[in-house]
Amino acid sequence: MNKVFIETYGCQMNQADSEVVLSILGNQGYELTMDINQSDLILINTCSIRDNAEQRVKSRLMELEALKRKNSNLRVGVLGCMAERLKEELFEKNKVVDLVVGPDGYRDIPLLLNEYNKGQRAFSVMLSDEETYSEIKPVRIGTNGVSAFVSIMRGCENFCSYCVVPYTRGKERSRDFESILNEVKDLFDRGYREVTLLGQNVNSYLYEKDDIKVDFSDLMEMVALISPLLRVRFSTSHPKDISEKLIKVISKYLNICKYIHLPVQSGSAVVLKRMNRKYTPEEYLKKIEMIRNYIPDCAISTDIIAGFCGESIEDHNQTLSIMRQVGYDYAFMFYYSERPNTLAAKKYPDDIPLEEKKKRLDQIITLQNELSYISNSNDVGKEFEVLIEGESKRSKEKLFGRTSQNKVVIFDREDNKIGDYVRVKITSCTSATLMGKK
Ligand code: SAH
Ligand code: SF4
Ligand code: F3S
Repeated sequence: MNKVFIETYGCQMNQADSEVVLSILGNQGYELTMDINQSDLILINTCSIRDNAEQRVKSRLMELEALKRKNSNLRVGVLGCMAERLKEELFEKNKVVDLVVGPDGYRDIPLLLNEYNKGQRAFSVMLSDEETYSEIKPVRIGTNGVSAFVSIMRGCENFCSYCVVPYTRGKERSRDFESILNEVKDLFDRGYREVTLLGQNVNSYLYEKDDIKVDFSDLMEMVALISPLLRVRFSTSHPKDISEKLIKVISKYLNICKYIHLPVQSGSAVVLKRMNRKYTPEEYLKKIEMIRNYIPDCAISTDIIAGFCGESIEDHNQTLSIMRQVGYDYAFMFYYSERPNTLAAKKYPDDIPLEEKKKRLDQIITLQNELSYISNSNDVGKEFEVLIEGESKRSKEKLFGRTSQNKVVIFDREDNKIGDYVRVKITSCTSATLMGKK
């Protein structure tokens, strides 16, 4: 049996893709190893979202050169968004690379390995309008046996001006809802208790066949009905598309988690326009109000970019201001990184100096820490249902899990086990975690 080692960078969709790749390779006599020194094939599933994501992969590829010198049979493949963006350039610049496979080429991997064995350069970087890997049953990697990602669509056509994803992932397409339901049912039967439905913009999920039409709200409802014991999450929602219908479905089912990731990116109307986000701060705040009306206990998180092209101090202050207005529970925060060939790279100069970008990002992070602390402090004294995910990193005597609001809670192990639901009362907190007692 050949051994494959898979390392994944980037977003949850890449993690889901690595599991599809492992499934494809499993049918060809490959099995996963966690020990890179034992592997015959190393696959690096890569991300292009920011320059530092690509730099990390490049230095990783240099490290692999030493392994290849020791084992001449070892093959190294680059998958994912960097493969799609850089194509053959990856062979030229990195001697260690034998295969280059973009996000829609994973079914070709067995063929490419054969081609490579015959001494040919092996790559597949065509994007597809249809590929959703719909009937492939992912083989889970590094799983806790409790939560799993389920990809429901691929690609993105929003073309936010800073973003490389539409170029690396291609056209938006939705996976057949029946294959999604089958995958989720199978996970539940195998003991999984939480699924996260994944897409770059899940609100525009739409599957049409004959006279059946399933949109994202319908899909969420069908998944929620699989079992009340199965928690359902989703990521990511584009603010322009999140609908009242969806919010109503989320509020209707106890097992749909009360947590929405709704990336704002900036609090300035002019910056949002330049970003091609297609909403104003006012429209965004209206969506937040709608969420709070239907789901008062809903946690809301965001993504923010500091120092986008032409961002003035006033624009930056508006970002800080919208963060306070929403009172985010959590945020992913970045400084702007220009990506080659995106609309922003072509149209707007990257004119905020790096030092200034970092300074603005620091202010955003400091504010978010305060907001997260306030949000967590409000939970002290309350009781939550927690799904146990694992052992605490710091102590074997403690377990951790999450509330429906996606907050991590640490509590004494006692006689509980991973995958159980427990009710926990919150006794104290930091800005990052809740501590509780049963
Ligand atoms: N589809 C998701 C986002 C995927 S990328 C959505 O639209 O919400 C995740 C986050 O990375 C983005 O929300 C954005 O905040 C950030 N990001 C994307 N491109 C970036 C760039 N060029 N520089 C810095 N951050 C970027
Ligand atoms: Fe990128 Fe915008 Fe698509 Fe998100 S919605 S993946 S930020 S283009
Ligand atoms: Fe990165 Fe591609 Fe995901 S660029 S964030 S791995 S879609």
